[in-house]
Amino acid sequence: MSVTQDLLYKDSGRAIEDRAQNLLDQMTLAEKIGQMTQVEKNSITPAEVSQYFIGSVLSGGGGNPAPNSPATWANMVRSFQEPALQTRLAIPLIYGSDAIHGHNNVKGAVIFPHNIGLGATHDAELVERVARVVAAECMGTGVRWDFAPAVSVPQDIRWGRTLEGFSQNTELVSKLATAFIRGLQNADGHNIPGVLASVKHFLADGGTRWASRADYPWIQNWGKSSDDHWSIDQGNVEVDEATLRAIHLPPYIAAMQAGAMNIMVSYSSWQGLKMHAHRYLLTDVLKNEFGFRGFLVTDWLGIDQINADYHTAVVTSINAGLDMIMVPFDFKRCIETLNTAVAQGEISQERIDDAVGRILTVKLAMGLFEQPFTDKSLLAEIGSREHREVAREAVRKSLVLLKNEGQVLPLKKTARRIVVAGEGAHDIGLQCGGWTIEWMGTPGNITDGTTILEGIQQIVSADTEVIYSADADFAADVRAEVGILVLAEPPYAEGQGDRSQLVLSPTDIELSQRLKQHCSRMVVILLSGRPLIITPQLGDWDAFVAAWLPGSEGQGIADVLFGDTPFVGKLSYAWPRTMQQIPASELHSAGQAPLWDINFGLTS
Ligand code: BGC
Ligand code: BGC
Repeated sequence: MSVTQDLLYKDSGRAIEDRAQNLLDQMTLAEKIGQMTQVEKNSITPAEVSQYFIGSVLSGGGGNPAPNSPATWANMVRSFQEPALQTRLAIPLIYGSDAIHGHNNVKGAVIFPHNIGLGATHDAELVERVARVVAAECMGTGVRWDFAPAVSVPQDIRWGRTLEGFSQNTELVSKLATAFIRGLQNADGHNIPGVLASVKHFLADGGTRWASRADYPWIQNWGKSSDDHWSIDQGNVEVDEATLRAIHLPPYIAAMQAGAMNIMVSYSSWQGLKMHAHRYLLTDVLKNEFGFRGFLVTDWLGIDQINADYHTAVVTSINAGLDMIMVPFDFKRCIETLNTAVAQGEISQERIDDAVGRILTVKLAMGLFEQPFTDKSLLAEIGSREHREVAREAVRKSLVLLKNEGQVLPLKKTARRIVVAGEGAHDIGLQCGGWTIEWMGTPGNITDGTTILEGIQQIVSADTEVIYSADADFAADVRAEVGILVLAEPPYAEGQGDRSQLVLSPTDIELSQRLKQHCSRMVVILLSGRPLIITPQLGDWDAFVAAWLPGSEGQGIADVLFGDTPFVGKLSYAWPRTMQQIPASELHSAGQAPLWDINFGLTS
């Protein structure tokens, strides 16, 4: 090839396919395998990025630089991008992170409601605006790949990842996920595609059966501190193909139509076969039948689960259709394995070229070659007022009013005295939930934001006395017109959120009884990643609000409680009356209706 021909791929005026082909034609096997390799940021040095031609680096949940700030994030991403651009062909890497409710690993970023809360808004236009803000905050740090949206259609709320699913209803998931993808990939004000969405987890991560998750004794297992943990997450889906296609597949088809170019494969199995090994669903159905032209990425250690022998696992999954491997740790072993497999003819050159061609096409289409670095103007906007306003609006619209006896809500800003209880009332970490700063999330003052209590204090009249005690330990003579109790599920992520009994803790029940002694009317706000069984307690409460995991803008809750804006949220999951009504297939089988059906929500 002549020099000019060699440089064709750099010409942004040429067709993407021609550029990708031109690049591919010039690549060595080592360069190709590097593109297929995604490494966790602490497991690789910048020098190794160029030495091994690495295609992607990621932060896992809590994969933060120290100190954790937008600026250190931007520097960290740059430190990996620079060596990638110093390689012979200067192929930019793409940095990935789980910005699943805001750029949530980054301290100071705006934290949005988790998807279950966005689902309750039923508002695609809002979700698209939310995603535009997420894209802007990601781009400000140089993160151009967001492992979101989850298009899970959770059928069993005992699953810890229920909170990542917009709804148990397929159409609603499709509607909101496509809005999210549009917002993320076409950040407004920028003439380059913003951030690559990763639609996950293919297929039917939300359809697994309780107690169906296998153990993988040959790999380090996920922390399990209760028997419940990892009982359903990563488990087995047992439905037939027609059900699989009807409930779980449509959001992927809709996502592709909305421009999705990357899909993450699920840890789960269908009828006993791991998705990472599922050639039929990955290649025959997704790539061939539905014409998916983007690339498939594994989940974190996803390949390692499918076989005790790593070589067999890699060969099986690449031949099943996986294009990029989220290794994430031992990338040298991964690269060696791919090399050997190609040398031995177990993975064909065509399969490698197909995988790499897909990855390059996406990178080219995103304009990564033209703009590989952080957008500095966006760095300054991370956590801005404007961004927080969008989150506050999302919070307001995500609240579902489920009971309002005697129209106790909206509350009067001029009440003489309000008593507030529950740790959730004054804890940013609890209102954000899992996947916030740390993988599992953590209670406490973990990032910037406004607590619910602060929101209440700001909205009431100067003469209103707001008294807060986390455990409702008020002096015996304290009486108020209104008591506000905020109950909160402790933060969790993935299988650590699997719970066999979705009931209130004895501590929460006692707290509710204690607060009742001090107020004439009681309003209960629940912070949770799913409906909980509250049937026995509901009679004690005058009003009940499902607030999901609202994120950093607690002011949005006060706005609605005190009537500045109305309650408009509607359930995106049915609310079971008893544990017997779980999973979703059992919702009506006990001859009793659920406590509240999907789409229910009162207005105020
Ligand atoms: C990472 C997460 C990952 C998890 C799975 C954690 O250490 O931070 O991103 O999902 O491990 O093992
Ligand atoms: C999760 C994915 C996530 C990945 C990287 C995995 O454990 O299942 O949803 O994108 O970790 O953090």
